[in-house]
Parts: sequence; C-alpha cells; structure tokens
Amino acid sequence: MLFALALTFASIAFAQHWHHGRPHLNQHAHRALMSNATEDSFPTPNTSCDYWLENINHQGLSPFHGNPSSYQVFRNVKDYGAVGDGVSDDTLAINSAISSGDRCSPFNCESSTTTPAVVYFPAGTYLVSSSIIVFYETQLIGNPNCLPILKPSLDFKSPPGRIGIIDGDSYDPSGLLGFSSTNTFYRQVRNFIIDMTSFPASRSIRGIHWPTGQATSLQNIVFQMSDAPGTQHEGIFMEEGSGGFMADLVFEGGLNGANWGNQQFTMRNLTFSNAVTAINQIWDWGWTYKSVAINNCSTGLNMSSADPATGQLTVGSVTLIDSSIENTPIGVATARNVNSLPPTAGSLIIENVDFNNVASPVSGVSTPSINEISSRFGAGRAYTPDGHTIDGALEHLIRPTSLLQSDGRFYERSKPQYSTEPLEMFYSVRSGGARGDGVTDDTAALQRVINLAASLHKIVFFDFGIYRVTRTLYVPPGSRIVGESYPVILSSGRFFANMNRPQPVIRIGIPGDKGSVEWSDMIVSTQGSQAGAILIEINIESPPDSPTGLWDVHTRIGGFTGSHLQQVDCPKTPNVATPPAAVNRRCIAAFMAMHITKPAAGIYLENVWLWTADHDLDDPSGQNTQITIYTGRGLLIESQNGPVWL
Ligand SMILES: *[C@@H]1O[C@H](CO)[C@@H](O)[C@H](O)[C@H]1NC(C)=O
Ligand SMILES: *[C@@H]1O[C@H](CO)[C@@H](O)[C@H](O)[C@H]1NC(C)=O
Ligand SMILES: *[C@@H]1O[C@H](CO)[C@@H](O)[C@H](O)[C@H]1NC(C)=O
Ligand SMILES: *[C@@H]1O[C@H](CO)[C@@H](O)[C@H](O)[C@H]1NC(C)=O
Ligand SMILES: *[C@@H]1O[C@H](CO)[C@@H](O)[C@H](O)[C@H]1NC(C)=O
Repeated sequence: MLFALALTFASIAFAQHWHHGRPHLNQHAHRALMSNATEDSFPTPNTSCDYWLENINHQGLSPFHGNPSSYQVFRNVKDYGAVGDGVSDDTLAINSAISSGDRCSPFNCESSTTTPAVVYFPAGTYLVSSSIIVFYETQLIGNPNCLPILKPSLDFKSPPGRIGIIDGDSYDPSGLLGFSSTNTFYRQVRNFIIDMTSFPASRSIRGIHWPTGQATSLQNIVFQMSDAPGTQHEGIFMEEGSGGFMADLVFEGGLNGANWGNQQFTMRNLTFSNAVTAINQIWDWGWTYKSVAINNCSTGLNMSSADPATGQLTVGSVTLIDSSIENTPIGVATARNVNSLPPTAGSLIIENVDFNNVASPVSGVSTPSINEISSRFGAGRAYTPDGHTIDGALEHLIRPTSLLQSDGRFYERSKPQYSTEPLEMFYSVRSGGARGDGVTDDTAALQRVINLAASLHKIVFFDFGIYRVTRTLYVPPGSRIVGESYPVILSSGRFFANMNRPQPVIRIGIPGDKGSVEWSDMIVSTQGSQAGAILIEINIESPPDSPTGLWDVHTRIGGFTGSHLQQVDCPKTPNVATPPAAVNRRCIAAFMAMHITKPAAGIYLENVWLWTADHDLDDPSGQNTQITIYTGRGLLIESQNGPVWL
C-alpha cells in the first residue's frame, strides 16, 4: 500500500560543501590555539556533558567500500564546520558531515551496506535553514548528557521534495521517495531536542520525516512545537514504509504531535501534551502503542481516516496498552461500524489505559461508555471459527505476573547508551587486535576482547567492521557489547556448514550460566553456504528484574557485499519450479536465525529484526533485485521458565 505524494520539482540543487578531516580539538589544544582568549572569558568545559562516544578513538572501517582507508564511519558535525551556537547556519556543514565520502544518497542510490555513518552532534544549538538529508545506513546521534538542539531559522525552507528538519527519506525529482520506503533499513536518530517554538505557528513545519522500513529507530527526542491556536507544526510525519520502532519521545504542542501511517510499528514511552491531535493515524496494517501518555490535547488518537474516493477505512488496527489519556475531550476517534469496509479495518484493542477527564474515551459511530471500556475493550473481528465481531468489554485477559513490572505494566527497558560511563570503561575490539576487514579470521581476537572485558566489567565497543568468524563466539554473563553503526559478525567456513550438526555463531551463555548480558546495535550474518549456522543462541538465565537485553541487534542472511549470497550467486527463478533436489546448496545460508533455549530465562528483545534477505541491498544495478536464499528456521523459543519479552 502506497500513499505516494504527487510532488513536482523545479530542480534539485544539493549544495555540497566538503570540509575534510579537520581534526577534532580537545579542550586543551583548543585553548592553546585560542591564545588571544583570556582564561576568564573562555568557557570552562561542562564535564557533565562528557560522552564516551564523542571521545573514543574512531577506528571504524568499511572494508567493502571502494576506498576503505579514506572512508570515515564516524563524523562529528563540528569537524565539518557546524558551529552549534544557535546563530550560525549549520545546514551545509551538517549535510556535508552526512554526505561526505561517496555515500548512498536518496537521489542516486537505492541502498548500500558499505557506506555506514555515525553522524555525531556534540552539545550545542544547531540552526538550520533547510532539511538535514539522511543518507542510507546513517545514525544521527546527539550527546545524551547535554542534548543538542536543532532549531529552524525563521526563513527555514526546504526545496521541493524535502520534508522536515530531519528528512529521513527525501523525494526525488520523479515524485517518488528516494529510497523506496519499505526498503529503507538500518537508520537511527537519537538524543535531540527539536525546537520549533520560535518558528511562526501559522507556517507548516515538521520535525522528522520518517517513511522507513525495518531495523530503524527513533529514541530520546523532544519535539517542541507551538501550541498557539491554529498551529501548523508537526513532530513526526510518516506516510508509508514497513517499520520499525520508536521509544522515549516527547511531543509538546503542535497541530499533530505525530501524523503517521506505515504498514506497522511498535512504539513505547511516548508523551504528548498541548497538541490539537496527539496522534493522527493516517493508515496502517497493525500498530502497537505501549506506555503512551496524552495530556491536554483536543483528540488523543484519531484512527478514523478513510480513503476520500471510496470511503474505505485506511487504518487496519491499533493496539493501545499500558497508557493514559487525560484532560482531552476525545480519547480515541474511530469510524468502524458493522458495515464499514474493509470488514476488519478499524480494529482496536484498549487494555490497561487510564482515562481521566476524557468526555469520550472512544468516539465514533458508537460511543461506548467509560464503564464499557473499563480496563479492556475491543472492536473488530475475533479470531474464532466464525470470525465473529467484537465490540465492547473484553473478558478473560490475564496478564502473567512474571511479565509485569511493579506498576503492573508490562516490563520495558530502553536501549542503554552508557551515558554516565567514563571512556576508560570501553574496550575497542579493533584496539584489541580484531581486524574487521571481512577477510581475516577474527574469532580468537574477538573472543579475547570479550573475555577480558567481561572479567574487568568493561564494555566491548565494536568499531564498525565486518568481523569474520569461523567458530562460535561465547558471550559470558556480565558482558555489555555495543556497536558503532551496525558492525557485522560474519560466520564463515566448514564449522557452520553441516545441517546435521548445527552450531551457534554467537552463544550468549552456556546452559547453567546465570547473569545478564546487554547487546545493542549489531548485525549477525553468514557467508556463503552455512546450512548449520544458528546465528544467535541464548542459553543464559537472567533475573527478571535485570534481564538479558538485545536492542537493535539484527540478523541479515544474504543480500549484501561480502555475503557471497548476492544476486549473481543466488538469483531468483520465478518461472522455474525448483524441486528439493535442485536447490542450490550454496544458497542454504543458515540453519536458524535465533534460538532461545530451554534454560534461557529473563530475555528482553527490542527492535530485533531477524531477516533473511529477499533482495540484494548492494545490487550493482541499483534495482534491489530479488534473490533466493534458504534459511531453515527463524526464531525458536524453548525457554521453560521465562520470562521472554519480544
Ligand atoms: C583572536 O584574534 C583574531 C584576530 O584579531 C580574531 O579574528 C579572533 O576572533 C580572536 N579570537 C578570539 C577567540 O577572540
Ligand atoms: C552543564 O551541566 C549541567 C549539569 O551539571 C546541565 O544542567 C547543563 O545543561 C549543562 N550545560 C550545557 C550547556 O549543556
Ligand atoms: C521515557 O522517556 C523519557 C524521555 O526520554 C525518559 O526520561 C524516561 O526515562 C523513559 N521512561 C522509560 C520507562 O523508558
Ligand atoms: C493546554 O493546551 C493549550 C494549547 O492547546 C495551552 O494553551 C494551555 O496552556 C495548556 N494547558 C496547560 C494546563 O498546560
Ligand atoms: C479525525 O481525522 C479526520 C480526517 O482523517 C477528520 O475529518 C476528523 O475531524 C478527525 N476527528 C477528530 C475527532 O479529530
């Protein structure tokens, strides 16, 4: 389903402004160079802003990039000329930090796994006069200890096709999104304040345009908008895609805090206040909202949208749990009734939602009373043999207590960013001897770093790279592992090739191990025929109040440079039946993506995408050509005692 916007373009002129390699100055060097500044006039460093990611040695290496030795993964916007003083126009500098180094732009490229970038924003106020254009596999990361502020200038104006202060996917001159939205993977924005309050309320402006697919996340962003009557400000706009995850977002003011449609999303911990409509749901297939707090808006969640031509409802379903709506006349606006089409559209589940000073908790064709909604309410089709319609209070829903936190809500926990950990706590795998060049066998080097870090309670930092392993990597209890962009662990060789003797690539604990592991921002993959590879095996037994967590850890099986499982290796043959005996065994790429075994307990997975590639992300034709990759199984959960949160 596509909601293509009809856009016409006079011209696309993307000014590029290259500042290469200005070294990042530390305070000491900075002071020495500013010799005419007096000690007194020089601001003393706000040490509480220190963040390890800003200061760590930047050794990311993209081995399959055309020019890996000069390609920079980590980019500090200040090294590209951004000033961050709230006065200088930093648009060109920020866009140059993103675009430098022959990357995959929305205007000439569909996707690429060889040009990842972490674009880092130190504390500061960055004034922009037009959109920040996001390229493929880009993470925009602000300093979580002193959130950088992005501010539109009074003359903020984006050329046609650019939307928002941060444009996650721009339109190209043909009127289509530059990256097709459902293939827009691997990107994040986190730790920002987007302050639109000084921009005229009567003029339309959006914080983030985010039509993305899987393995994308927005985290810890505050959207400040005008709440003046008639405000045209919007926090997030998203018209299509196949997402995705968002958490820890705060929306203040605006016409719509969020105005979005997509196939599906999972969202957690969103706060809205003083908006006309907190959430305008344009369309969806299915959507899960958890821990949403809406206060002092006119409408909480509007899911009544219909196709103007046919009158058919465009929102498939919404699930709203563990949330609150207060001081808002209309809680959830719906348009479903027994005759509305399609028959299952407008499905709604409300569970454990507090309504406080809300005249119509659910309003639309029928308006159930607060008593009917009480703690659980459903509207839609039930999955029973006769597919009967439900409309009203739901009984028989039991929340297993082992899945709950002390306030009765389902347990939730955000991705750790280690914001208060000093730099000395981080142990780089590249400094520890791993090469990450896609060729060297890094098994022994990685295992050494992981073991040493766990024994010293340090945090393992995977500099970007492609780390080839030929044996299982064991991750002991107490490990904390975080990647730069999405580094890849690539299994390879005979050890993982026997379908009758499957072997884990990453093994989190062995049966009997107790403790917790934290792991974020990484991809596990295989190279060539790996019919016995279990990409991630979890055996560890973690206490429920300190579970083992995986955040933004994904499997990617086939479909990228270095996998030997690309379009030339494993072409699709849609017009030829393939009997089992004729299966190309070189394209049997994994035994299983993830196995949570019987002893495993206390496991929390957030935004984990277990993907077997249906297309080649580095297809030289730029067409995202489909491929044929065989993976035996996806996810197997055998945990006997749980809890396991997905
Ligand atoms: C130092 O002096 C130069 C030349 O007068 C001036 O351009 C520059 O802005 C001064 N720097 C500071 C930090 O005052
Ligand atoms: C400096 O640190 C304090 C906390 O000690 C914080 O409240 C403040 O926002 C920081 N200043 C800047 C400019 O980030
Ligand atoms: C929710 O998000 C806010 C804002 O980022 C954050 O301060 C808070 O800790 C988050 N709460 C949870 C339960 O993650
Ligand atoms: C409620 O929101 C309106 C804007 O819609 C704002 O003017 C008003 O100050 C808010 N009230 C409170 C108590 O925050
Ligand atoms: C909900 O959105 C529709 C447009 O899709 C609009 O016509 C309607 O007025 C809105 N309802 C509420 C209660 O905000």
